[in-house]
Amino acid sequence: RIDETWIRRLPKAETHVHLEGNFELIDLLDLAKEAGEPLPGPAATLFDVTTHDASDGTGDLADFLRFLDWECGLIRTPEQAARHAYSFAARQTASGIGYTDAVINPTHWAAWSGRVPALFDALAAGLDEAEQDGLAEVQLCYSLLRQQSAGEAGEVVEWLATARPRRVVALSIDGDERSAGRVSARFAEAFTAAKDAGLRRTVHAGESSGPEGVWDAIRLLHAERIDHGVRAVEDPELLRYLAETQIPLGVCPRSNVVLGLYDDWSDHPLVALRDAGVNVTINTDDPAPLGTTLEADWAVCAETFGLTEDDLIGFARASIAASFAGDATKRALE
Ligand code: ADE
Ligand code: ZN
Repeated sequence: RIDETWIRRLPKAETHVHLEGNFELIDLLDLAKEAGEPLPGPAATLFDVTTHDASDGTGDLADFLRFLDWECGLIRTPEQAARHAYSFAARQTASGIGYTDAVINPTHWAAWSGRVPALFDALAAGLDEAEQDGLAEVQLCYSLLRQQSAGEAGEVVEWLATARPRRVVALSIDGDERSAGRVSARFAEAFTAAKDAGLRRTVHAGESSGPEGVWDAIRLLHAERIDHGVRAVEDPELLRYLAETQIPLGVCPRSNVVLGLYDDWSDHPLVALRDAGVNVTINTDDPAPLGTTLEADWAVCAETFGLTEDDLIGFARASIAASFAGDATKRALE
């Protein structure tokens, strides 16, 4: 088994990880206490909540997203938001991740409804402080939720384009595509406006949607990167297209296994995608509730798929190249 310390030391980036998926148990206990909130779930223990696992039939993506709502709903003050961003940067740094594109979807953060700019100010302040303390750089991808309307998406992009909130480099979209339906067309205008405003574009697709979701992300939303995208493996024409264009897929094997997309790591298409010439990176998605770290997941991939140290060096290089880091950051990492 490849040593996790060796993996931590590899210069790398993470391109698919959510700020919503970074609440440690200890932080949640503190936040729930500060908020005067009971712990959720019938057994009312955090252990039950965070060991939530679709593979035993107890939960799926929809339940998982509701859990993220609960966690993020505990963040009510700018100080808490800044502290959360700071510990996110600390956690990334501890995994040897020199640069992160972090997804943040304000619809999960109920206490900030109607005052999203204040949330972004607080997150940027926490990330600034982290960098001043020598922790790794984190930039933000503002994520729409699949269930939002075209009007809401338009307002978000107008705000991003005019206010230019610090650290936001991209527009993203995430959430459950099964309950939303095939709705990418609804967001086409917003993604075009984001492109015109110089924002990068990343789209969750090919997880709770099939290959058609990935095609829509490319054709309708001009995605520069796909988050997940694993179900592209079911469409040979799409595989050829992805190999030709080298649009990166931010793959998250553990998330897919825990949330029930594949029964086991050995069923996961990571290597099939790579062997088809697709540009893939390995990411955690939501490491804290999934109980993992990036280095642990890379080690499991290496063991499951027989990856060598050279393979992992290749994945590390691919992660830096696929990131939305600035040129100076990329050069420093390469
Ligand atoms: N938000 C956080 N994790 C997600 C996932 N795996 N799919 C869609 N939206 C998400
Ligand atoms: Zn995700």
